[in-house]
Amino acid sequence: MWIYILIIFLSEEWPICQAANSVNSMISNRTPPLKVYDHIKAVFSLGSNMDLHCSNRTWTETMFVIWNIELKHKICRISFSDKGQSFDSCNDGKSLQNTSAGQSYLHIPNFSADDVGVYKCESVYTGGYDNYKTEVAVTAPPKVSAWLDRRDNKMVAVCRAERGNPAATISWSPAGNGSVTLQDEPDGFLTVESRLELSGDMDPENLTCVVHHQFWAQEKTLVPKLKEGHVSSETSPTKWNQMQAMVRNKCFS
Ligand SMILES: *[C@@H]1O[C@H](CO)[C@@H](O)[C@H](O)[C@H]1NC(C)=O
Ligand SMILES: *[C@@H]1O[C@H](CO)[C@@H](O)[C@H](O)[C@H]1NC(C)=O
Ligand SMILES: *[C@@H]1O[C@H](CO)[C@@H](O)[C@H](O)[C@H]1NC(C)=O
Ligand SMILES: *[C@@H]1O[C@H](CO)[C@@H](O)[C@H](O)[C@H]1NC(C)=O
Ligand SMILES: *[C@@H]1O[C@H](CO)[C@@H](O)[C@H](O)[C@H]1NC(C)=O
Repeated sequence: MWIYILIIFLSEEWPICQAANSVNSMISNRTPPLKVYDHIKAVFSLGSNMDLHCSNRTWTETMFVIWNIELKHKICRISFSDKGQSFDSCNDGKSLQNTSAGQSYLHIPNFSADDVGVYKCESVYTGGYDNYKTEVAVTAPPKVSAWLDRRDNKMVAVCRAERGNPAATISWSPAGNGSVTLQDEPDGFLTVESRLELSGDMDPENLTCVVHHQFWAQEKTLVPKLKEGHVSSETSPTKWNQMQAMVRNKCFS
């Protein structure tokens, strides 16, 4: 007769996941492989509503559901128990709701850059528990523009990628070392600007700026033109409003 002594080191990071994994590996000889959730991705629009699910169990067998949420600016918790006890330290519109079948899910209204973070949930039901660590990221394409500034006797080519997430990268063709500034917008978006001083013998005729961003399959190429103010935009307003949230579930159910 074998006696198993299971020692579980509960680390700060995903304690229950590790416990679940240990248990899963112990019982894997006797039960069919458990479903693994990995790198689930979803695309959301800025201002859209987002739902995160923790378990497919219904409230008839669930005892409690806890969401521990780590956002850029705060850490908070939302929970509900079958006894009707609820707790919400987020106070930002996120709420626990039920599907028509009676399963609990977290509802995030009006998705914004502030909602980016790590969402950990624990759902305890009679006979077990489900745990997920969900990383919610957002990618929003920047609005791009390029122009030429003439100041004194100097010509400066400017390329700007406004309000992207993450920040775009800007390069010049033919290659040049622009001075790059990165601006953190208060709402979590990033604006990048590259200024390339053109030397006297450099003809701006064939100069282009190339903007890379993970939202686009292909880079955007802009030709800076001598004009008043900011010009040339390749990004349509609807596309600009699209955000992509990458949702990763990193645990076993
Ligand atoms: C939940 O999902 C698991 C695996 O997909 C399934 O075995 C189980 O029956 C489901 N439970 C409910 C209550 O739907
Ligand atoms: C979800 O269902 C549970 C159990 O029926 C109930 O106590 C709770 O109030 C419901 N929550 C919402 C937001 O409707
Ligand atoms: C969604 O959030 C944005 C920015 O936070 C705000 O301007 C807008 O009014 C909100 N929309 C709704 C429907 O709450
Ligand atoms: C850009 O700067 C790097 C290092 O400062 C230098 O090695 C490179 O030659 C420069 N490139 C151009 C096109 O000026
Ligand atoms: C710009 O490109 C065209 C076509 O490749 C070439 O004929 C022209 O000489 C280039 N102009 C300069 C200033 O390099």
